[in-house]
Amino acid sequence: METIMRILKENPGKYISGEELAKISGMTRAGIWKQIVQLRENGYQIDSSPRKGYRLMGITSSLHPLEIRESLASKVFGQVVYYQAEVDSTNRWAKSLAEKGAPEGTVVVAESQSRGRGRMGRSWASALGLGLWFSLILRPKISASNLACITILTAVVMARAIRAVTGIQIYIKWPNDLIYEERKLGGILAEISGEMDQVNYLVLGVGINVNHTGSDFPPELADRAISLRLIKEGEISRVRILQLFLQEFEQAYFSITQTGLQDVVDYAKQYSATLGKQVTINQGFGRVLSGQAVDLEQDGSLWLKEPGGELIKIFSGDLV
Ligand code: BTN
Repeated sequence: METIMRILKENPGKYISGEELAKISGMTRAGIWKQIVQLRENGYQIDSSPRKGYRLMGITSSLHPLEIRESLASKVFGQVVYYQAEVDSTNRWAKSLAEKGAPEGTVVVAESQSRGRGRMGRSWASALGLGLWFSLILRPKISASNLACITILTAVVMARAIRAVTGIQIYIKWPNDLIYEERKLGGILAEISGEMDQVNYLVLGVGINVNHTGSDFPPELADRAISLRLIKEGEISRVRILQLFLQEFEQAYFSITQTGLQDVVDYAKQYSATLGKQVTINQGFGRVLSGQAVDLEQDGSLWLKEPGGELIKIFSGDLV
């Protein structure tokens, strides 16, 4: 598929005959047709004319690995990409790949998810071709109790990537929701395998609503969710956001041990949708806490001031 795509890309808007494609690629005409069908399923707009051949139309909006790896400046993250037009959940797929030994930095991405998963057992609406639905496999050499800082890092790096590509400033709702004017733009689902003191692998699932129009959200989300396109008109490049995210994340992730997370936590504080507010936090198992969110710690935990004035440090939970 890479060869066919490369030839079409080198000749934007120009028809290349099936015969020529067959000659350059060494494939049969039937084989080429099969690949064209597959490329179309992956979101590429390819025009075909019986007499003229095939031509690539405009700029593609596919998240195909060919697009992601093109001009990607990272060394590890995104060098291995698994892609399908539709999967049940990229997190589930990434976990099965991690179990089979997929290396750190592997990216798993899809155009749509039939059973996208959110935090706390919720589902995640993942419309075809409109969002950035991906998972990253990490093998951090830290204990499970230190993982909260990686989700904060993810939220901050994603907010920065979105700002760099679109100019839009996103806010971070603790622990790791991406928010714009009280509406949810994206979320992170981190799933680990390992023991308390030794992580085997961590799958970081990230979902960002990018090119949705209002009617692309299910009715129950219509007034709670938002996409980048609803904030700023025009189609936004999912590939560019993902590339920037991978490059910045790689740099930050590999330097955590030397540089610490001060800069990341400062950013999360500056663009926090939580600090200073009265919040209610559901910690599961029927434990619900209320109070004022007062500070963020380097390890990603939140300081909550209870009505009696007592300060408690919270490592995880769901803000309601
Ligand atoms: C949340 O509830 O806020 C977390 C949402 C995480 C959604 C992403 S989309 C890609 C990855 N695969 C999944 O099944 N979920 C995450």
